Amino acid sequence: MTAGTLIALLLLALVLGDWLRRGDSSLVGSLTPALEWTSSWLRETLMVEASLMGWPLTGETSAYWYMSRSAGFMGYLLLWAATAWGLVVSTKVAKGVIAAPLATSLHEFLSLGALAFSGFHALVLLGDRYIDFGWVDILYPFAASYRPGWVGLGQLGFYLSAALTLSFYVRKRIGHKTWRSLHYLTFVAYALVLAHALTVGTDASARLAQAMYLGTVATIVFLIYYRLLASSGSRSRGLG
Ligand code: HEM
Repeated sequence: MTAGTLIALLLLALVLGDWLRRGDSSLVGSLTPALEWTSSWLRETLMVEASLMGWPLTGETSAYWYMSRSAGFMGYLLLWAATAWGLVVSTKVAKGVIAAPLATSLHEFLSLGALAFSGFHALVLLGDRYIDFGWVDILYPFAASYRPGWVGLGQLGFYLSAALTLSFYVRKRIGHKTWRSLHYLTFVAYALVLAHALTVGTDASARLAQAMYLGTVATIVFLIYYRLLASSGSRSRGLG
């Protein structure tokens, strides 16, 4: 989406600049200096952005690194949303507000989205010349040539959340009770990914990223607390 917008704006700036140079109407004539300045500023800014993104994707480009980082954030946020939504559904606060099949589908959609973005986050690193990862670095936990321990936590988190997401499709075969007990490992997967992102992430020291991590962790802690209170309440009323 970003690349598409960038290309569209770049083309617009190029076309606009050319059109202004050939313009002869009086209105265009009076607006020409301001418009020319705007279009050349736009063009220069976009060229800088494009070169920062390393576009096109060849040679010693940092574009793969940027793509991996942004996909990492998306993967993290979707994993957080899936975990938080799972907790909301299990406390039954959403009952009556949203139909049960829709709530389950949303949970499934968020979990699959997290897997897709995290998978892309790891795979796109194959294109980065600086980190120079091969298939072994990406696929085998703790085998990466760059910060193997902390990258390894991300790899474990990925495999665990993949297994948990897939377990949804064999729920009937393994039994609801086993599936539910296994599902508690979601918190382990989330913690592994969080530790990975905080330790290995370039942006972990940025204020905005820290606020995001703090806010997301706070909601999960609150929801776990609420869930425990809700289940102890219903047990004491003989409902649980
Ligand atoms: C559920 C799975 C995963 C999630 C949600 C995730 C998420 C993240 C996040 C949020 C960051 C921080 C980005 C930044 O601060 O710029 C990060 C960094 C990183 N991740 Fe993952 N990750 C996952 C799995 C993996 C896997 C399987 C690998 C295997 C190679 C990996 C390799 C890396 C590397 C090398 C960095 C450092 C990039 C940087 O310096 O910013 N991650 N990850």
